[in-house]
Amino acid sequence: MSASVTSKTRKLPTQALGAKIFHWLNIISLFIMLTSGLQIYNANPVFGGRSGWHIPPIFTLGGWLAGGRHWHFAAMWIFSVNLLWYGLYVFITRRWRHRFVAVNDLKALQKSHNSKRLIYAWHRIIYTSIIPIMLLAIFTGIGMYKPAQLSWIVDIFGSWQALRIVHFSSVPIVILFAILHFWLGKKAGGEKLTESMFW
Ligand code: HEM
Repeated sequence: MSASVTSKTRKLPTQALGAKIFHWLNIISLFIMLTSGLQIYNANPVFGGRSGWHIPPIFTLGGWLAGGRHWHFAAMWIFSVNLLWYGLYVFITRRWRHRFVAVNDLKALQKSHNSKRLIYAWHRIIYTSIIPIMLLAIFTGIGMYKPAQLSWIVDIFGSWQALRIVHFSSVPIVILFAILHFWLGKKAGGEKLTESMFW
């Protein structure tokens, strides 16, 4: 009896519809960006040229260079517009004031002995830090998309090869982020929190 009362009265985590849509579109577009990007990479590997280090086909999307580019350029719109509208939504609804990492999280890391609080602080640090990384992926991607018109982007990175390497670094960073974000989210709020972000 007491168990059923507890399960009825316990508050399940809920998320705004905007956050759910943002997460779904992010997962889908990032998966396409990653796999199609690796297809493009295989046509002329950044590391070692044509005879260099290739990615096994199971991790690629598109079948060949042009196929990979079609997927990459289609998904780049979903990825970029999704980030833009979510940024506006968080700004207009003033969610930015409590949504991202703040000074009290950093203080908690230094002073708190409460393991739940420490995990929560790391969780907020990780999901906040992916935002500048996503923006860097877009910025370097735009530089590679229109290198003649936007040659100043190439200049910022010093060379075309350096620009490619910085853009490519989104691959391991995004994979690492996905693992850490999932793991910390589960530790901070259990499976219910993760589920609440999607359903
Ligand atoms: C986090 C998301 C992204 C990942 C993981 C990713 C990954 C990759 C990878 C691995 C490559 C191959 C790099 C090379 O070998 O030179 C690539 C190429 C490229 N990416 Fe991305 N990318 C992402 C987002 C973007 C965005 C947002 C844009 C555009 C705004 C973009 C535009 C491009 C362009 C233009 C190329 C070169 C295509 C070509 O040379 O034919 N990427 N991407």
